[in-house]
Amino acid sequence: MIQSVMPTVVRPTIRLTDRVAAMQESPTLAVLNRATALIAQGVDVVDFGPGEPDFATPHAVAEAGKLAIDRGFTKYTNASGIKPLREAIAARYNRRYATRIGFEHVVTGCGGKQELFNLALALVHAGDEVIIPAPYWVSFPDQVAFAGGTPVFAKTRTEDQFRPTLAQIEAVATERTRGVILNSPCNPTGAVIRESELAKIVEWCASRDAFLIFDETYELFVYDGNEHASAMRWFEQYPETVVIVNSMSKTFAMTGWRLGYAIAHPEIISALGKIQSHSTSNPSTIAQQAALEALNGVNEDVQRMYDAYRERRAWLVPALNSLPGICCADPDGAFYVFPEVRAFFGKAGITDSQSFASYLLDEARVAVVPGGAFGADDFVRISYATSMERLREGTARMKAALEKL
Ligand SMILES: Cc1ncc(COP(=O)(O)O)c(C=O)c1O
Repeated sequence: MIQSVMPTVVRPTIRLTDRVAAMQESPTLAVLNRATALIAQGVDVVDFGPGEPDFATPHAVAEAGKLAIDRGFTKYTNASGIKPLREAIAARYNRRYATRIGFEHVVTGCGGKQELFNLALALVHAGDEVIIPAPYWVSFPDQVAFAGGTPVFAKTRTEDQFRPTLAQIEAVATERTRGVILNSPCNPTGAVIRESELAKIVEWCASRDAFLIFDETYELFVYDGNEHASAMRWFEQYPETVVIVNSMSKTFAMTGWRLGYAIAHPEIISALGKIQSHSTSNPSTIAQQAALEALNGVNEDVQRMYDAYRERRAWLVPALNSLPGICCADPDGAFYVFPEVRAFFGKAGITDSQSFASYLLDEARVAVVPGGAFGADDFVRISYATSMERLREGTARMKAALEKL
């Protein structure tokens, strides 16, 4: 009898690369996921988590998007974006900073996040160290690590409202330092870097042949007489050093349109365009047309949003500081506050920012983002991109829950 010989069945395996395996999936977002699930079940959760404006995209901008579809702007464009949009971005910067850049200094992409990611791929060599002030926006370290570099953190101080200084950066620099990533106004702390300090950091980077990526996604949201200092001021002096990243997302309430940009030396811009040409290609053609409209002027809408954030912040900071055990620095900008909650550690099973956030969700039905996600475990992030009514409600609930501790 002939025995049929069945080939040994080898189960196919999924073999993720080391670089993906090393990427952090923020464990602290578990609290927000739980909040989302509760909201879906109909539970009344006050959500202080959102990192995006609670306003609709300005009407004229949305209309421009619709018109783009009607007019057939629905095909591929140049991978770096259409020339009129890149020119409009260059013109906006030229007006503000008296520079003379052209479209060749600008690349547009699917959000500022894409440009930051591509910049890491384009500029970070294996083994390079990149200095990032902490607390930091969650994606910076992972982007650097994904590109083969090592993120190195320069700790900022609560006493200085978390504003980064050259001394803090110098303290962690080594001969492998290849660049610095600054984010001002900062997510999550709201810190706005002082112009004098920024000047020193730009000079320092240039003198060491290190790049300076300057993320000014929240540039317009600066309060209380603070002024936004942009590294763009030094762009023409140090075009090989300074890279600007910005976005339509927050300024124009366009998060879902996915339109951001970078300004840099044309050689860097070409590299970013090349990466895009092999990955996403152009950012949405429709979003590009909408962005053009936004840049051509929806100033009143932007002012209205700014006024609302300012009013909420002015109410929220003292309201939080009046809660027992909460200590909240006055943030210079963005739409977040970053209170310290360490006073509650050791109570009711709270040991860190994540268990504090869990306690608030369980006891108060208030969702906040644990500071551990931003490299600062004694803090939580509260977004005031929500209505005054919800801010009042959430703060009252927090008060009741914290008084039990
Ligand atoms: C500091 C910072 N940079 C960049 C981004 C990216 O924004 P987008 O990709 O929507 O332009 C964000 C979004 O939250 C941010 O907070």
